[in-house]
Amino acid sequence: MRKEAFELLKKYTKSESLLRHAFAVEAGMIAYAKKYGEDVDEWASVGVLHDVDFELYPETHPLKGVEILTEAGYSEEFINAVKGHSDATNTKRETKMAKTLYAVDEFASFIVTVALMRPTKLEGMKYKSFNKKFKTKSFAEAIDRDHLRRAVEELGEDFMEHVNLLISELQEHEKTLNEDGYSLFN
Ligand SMILES: [Fe+2]
Ligand SMILES: [Fe+2]
Repeated sequence: MRKEAFELLKKYTKSESLLRHAFAVEAGMIAYAKKYGEDVDEWASVGVLHDVDFELYPETHPLKGVEILTEAGYSEEFINAVKGHSDATNTKRETKMAKTLYAVDEFASFIVTVALMRPTKLEGMKYKSFNKKFKTKSFAEAIDRDHLRRAVEELGEDFMEHVNLLISELQEHEKTLNEDGYSLFN
């Protein structure tokens, strides 16, 4: 399923930074699928495909994505999660899948951005490194910290545990990606 998801993403997305974002969000979805005992392959695929329409249809994002995913035969739960990750659609996030996607979307990429500043990247990265940058307003200024906090609250997870869980899954995911010739970083 993840393989097909990635093929579909590549059909609509040429930007490498968008592909890297998809990988980061994928790692977040994998982390929580494992934690909640959900289908890892399916949750990974939600992460991979949540921004499928962003490159070609940014103005209506994620509505064109919803169409693409409906046509590709993805489940209602899957599609509602994608729809709900954008506040613009005013969709209530009712499932764990939807809440998780919302809580890992920008968050996972923020962690990667912090890791980029470190000589060893994600390796050996601790909560402290994250928190220092999280508290520095001028760092990745466009990322609304309150939005990140609220999304974790909505999921019902502890903030620090959330960060640590994502760091550890991103570390694992980077290794897996490297084996396939991809990376979260370049
Ligand atoms: Fe998005
Ligand atoms: Fe996204």
